[in-house]
Amino acid sequence: MGHGIAEVAAIAGYTVSLRDIEAEFVEDGLDNIEWSLGKLAEKGQISESAEDVFERVSGYTDLETAVEDADLVVEAVPEKMEIKKDTLSEVDEYAPARAIIASNTSGLSITEMATATDRPERVVGTHYFNPPVRMDLVEVVHGEQTSDETIESVHEYVTSVGKTGIDVKKDVHGFVVNNVLVPFMGEAAWMLEEGDCTIEEADAGLVYDRGYPMGPFELNDYGGIDIANDFLENSAHGVPPSIAEHVENETLGRKSGEGYYQYEDGNGPTYE
Ligand code: 3HC
Repeated sequence: MGHGIAEVAAIAGYTVSLRDIEAEFVEDGLDNIEWSLGKLAEKGQISESAEDVFERVSGYTDLETAVEDADLVVEAVPEKMEIKKDTLSEVDEYAPARAIIASNTSGLSITEMATATDRPERVVGTHYFNPPVRMDLVEVVHGEQTSDETIESVHEYVTSVGKTGIDVKKDVHGFVVNNVLVPFMGEAAWMLEEGDCTIEEADAGLVYDRGYPMGPFELNDYGGIDIANDFLENSAHGVPPSIAEHVENETLGRKSGEGYYQYEDGNGPTYE
């Protein structure tokens, strides 16, 4: 998600610093941006050359250097509250006082994350959807102490990168979209468990009958099964066994080359 969010900003003309903890992760992120920009340029979907856009993106492993002149910092670290808080606390130390700190969490509490900083009024959620470069929506999530000025600036930013922001005033777990979307994947996995459908039947049904762009299993692979797992751990029905198994085996979907489907050739599944 981090590289996608950075790419969206660079396409809109912003100068972006991409930061990760290891040089190879930074390289992977930059490679993904370069690939995606190439695709968009090929199809005339960006107004500049891929190279011109890519020049606005720099990669770092040092957090201080990455954020020292930032107006907006977006974190997209793993969905564990302690990691989020450690990251926000470090960003708070090095980013200018004017900077807004946004989290791309899929559903963790913005209010709690903000306690790791001395600027809770400038901490906010900006929840993008995968792939950010193609998906229009961004949930703008209010923490209890987020100021109106921060919300307004963030909406302006979201509009400036060509996205539609919806206001999520209640910092409830999963916000709005994931409270609907992740149970969709979870329920399909429970049906699979009961033998009520196959993976292909569920996906084909939703795609060919209902016109969804992806069915529940393909979408779970696409977003990362670990993300659904983290969300469902806090849900009433718990985690369906097949999701727990994929997490245990580290077959997390597309990013692992294997999930409910195989992705060794880089192609998506077929389920006609
Ligand atoms: N950048 C540039 N090009 C891309 C791209 C990217 N990131 N991703 C795919 N493409 C390219 C493909 O390579 C392909 O190029 P080609 O024609 O030259 O081979 C082209 O776009 C078309 O791709 P596809 O035919 O595979 O697919 P579509 O164009 O029909 O749509 C999609 C792709 C937009 C991903 C669509 O399948 C979709 O909307 N899927 C559902 C996504 C979704 O619901 N996301 C939300 C997940 S939930 C979430 O993120 C929240 C989290 O908190 C859990």
